[in-house]
Amino acid sequence: MAALTAHAGEKLQENAADGPLLEGKDISVTFGRGTEAFDAVRAASVTLYGGEAVGIVGESGSGKTTLARVLVGLQRPSAGEVWLEGERLYSAAAERRLPRSERWKTQMIFQDPYSSLNPRMRVWQAVAEAVQVWHNLPRAAARVEALRLLHTMGISDDQARQFPKSLSGGQRQRVSVARALAPGPKVLIADEPTSSIDQSAQAQLLNLLRHLQSERGLAIIFISHDLGLVRYLTSRVYVMQKGDIVEAGETQAVMEQPQHSYTQLLINSIPGR
Ligand SMILES: Nc1ncnc2c1ncn2[C@@H]1O[C@H](COP(=O)(O)OP(=O)(O)OP(=O)(O)O)[C@@H](O)[C@H]1O
Ligand SMILES: [Mg+2]
Repeated sequence: MAALTAHAGEKLQENAADGPLLEGKDISVTFGRGTEAFDAVRAASVTLYGGEAVGIVGESGSGKTTLARVLVGLQRPSAGEVWLEGERLYSAAAERRLPRSERWKTQMIFQDPYSSLNPRMRVWQAVAEAVQVWHNLPRAAARVEALRLLHTMGISDDQARQFPKSLSGGQRQRVSVARALAPGPKVLIADEPTSSIDQSAQAQLLNLLRHLQSERGLAIIFISHDLGLVRYLTSRVYVMQKGDIVEAGETQAVMEQPQHSYTQLLINSIPGR
C-alpha cells in the first residue's frame, strides 16, 4: 500500500513537471445586466494536473457548477481563460465556443443521472451513441465498445438492454460515467454525482471514481458540498463561498488546519462528525 502511494506520488510529480493539464485562470461569470447583474463566480483560478483528483466544495449557490461548466466548455466566462494541455481553449474574448475537436477531452457528469440520459434510449444505445459520435465507429462495433464500457462500470448486458427508468439511481449514475468515458477523456468533472443516490450506491460510485483516478490515471474534479466525500477522493481542494475561492490547498491540510472561517463551518457540518 505504502509503495503504491509512493508510486502515485512520483507519478504526480512527473505530471506536475509537464505543466498543468487543465487550468481555469481568473474565471468570472456574471449573469444578468446592469442593476440585475450577479457574479456567480469571481476571478476563480483552478489548476488540475494529469492523474490527480481535485475537489471543489462550497454550499449551495456558491458557484461550483457554474465554474465547472466553464471548465468543460458549456458556459462562456465573462472574464478569464481556460487552458488545456498548454493551449488556450476558451476565453471571454474568444468569438467561438470550445472547438468540438477539443471538447471531448473534458467530460462532465451531473447531479441528476436521470435528466442526462434519454428516457427513450436503451442504456447501451445511450453509450453506443456517444462512442459513435466520438470514434466514428460502425454501429456494431460501437455496441461492443458500449457494452465493454458498461461492464467496467458494473452494468450487466441484461441491465444494458433496459431503459434508464428500470435502473436504480446508482446504476444510472454509473451509466452516465460510462457515457462520459466513451470519448476517452483526460478529465472527468463529477458534479455532486452522489447526491441523489443511497449510501451503498454512493460508496460504490466513489470507489469507482477512485479506481479510475488511481488505476487508469484519469484526472478528476469532484464537486460536492460534503467535505467528507471530498476528503475520501481528492488530494487537493478548492473551497468556494459566494462565487469566490476562499481557500485552496492539500485536502488533508485544509481539513486539519482550515485557514478560513467558512472552511471551518463546512468541516463542522460533516455528517457524523
Ligand atoms: N443561468 C443562470 N442565470 C442566472 N443565474 C444563475 C444561472 N446559473 C446559476 N445561477 C446562479 O449562480 C449562483 C451559483 O450557482 P451554481 O449552480 O453554480 O451553484 P452551486 O455551487 O453549484 O450550487 P449547488 O450546490 O446548489 O449545486 C446561484 O445563485 C445561481 O442561482
Ligand atoms: Mg451545483
